[in-house]
Amino acid sequence: LAAGMMAGCGGEKQAASSASGKNVLKVATNATYVPFEFKTKDGKDYTGYEIDVVRAVAKEMGRDVEFRNIAFDGLIPSLQSKEVDMSASGMTATKERAEKILFAAPFYETKLAVVTKADSDIHSVDDMNKGQEIAVQVGTTAAYYAQDKGMKTRNFDHSSDIIMELKAGGAVAGILDKPAADYFVATDGKGAFRVVDVPDSKVQYFAFGFNKDNKQLQQEVNKAIANLKQKGTLNELHEKWFKT
Ligand code: ARG
Repeated sequence: LAAGMMAGCGGEKQAASSASGKNVLKVATNATYVPFEFKTKDGKDYTGYEIDVVRAVAKEMGRDVEFRNIAFDGLIPSLQSKEVDMSASGMTATKERAEKILFAAPFYETKLAVVTKADSDIHSVDDMNKGQEIAVQVGTTAAYYAQDKGMKTRNFDHSSDIIMELKAGGAVAGILDKPAADYFVATDGKGAFRVVDVPDSKVQYFAFGFNKDNKQLQQEVNKAIANLKQKGTLNELHEKWFKT
């Protein structure tokens, strides 16, 4: 079992058993964001583009990874309290967040996008200000965007709840990062949903986060990211997850 597990998950240890291992990189994530970070069908392992990037970064640094699955709005506090070493959760490096934590060099950039029912009346963000309830994840840039626009929001702890709500017909639209929206509409939501771009959203630079005191880890991770870029690993992983 141990060998199989190692092969399957890049040396990741199970949460409870290895908390004291000194070479373990403790990474907090909100594993509800397909295709960036989510749980495998059996719920036993983590998977996704960003999970793969974290595992590659850790390998580059000669460290094991242990993921902690927590709420998105708990990520920054878990770095501040030093419960974990790093966050990896499709987190946009915003100015406000950079006052509280350090960010690594971005590994991804995108914009926000809307997912709506194929037959809905929503064709641009201007159509979303008419009292409809728009599903967003608490503490995300999508939630802040919706608030700024004066949209009526329904707030969820997990991105996967937005998808569930859309499918159940509880909300007519939700806001996500564009790749998450595109992925859903190309897979699970095919035919029933479509994506509406949000051209006036800020560019979302996704980056890993660290405690403000941990400049050293930030530098090591940056170096690993640079190496992975140079080796083509980041491109390969991108192909693996985003090739349609
Ligand atoms: N990029 C957005 C933000 O930083 C949303 C990220 C959501 N991530 C997640 N794992 N649910 O606010």
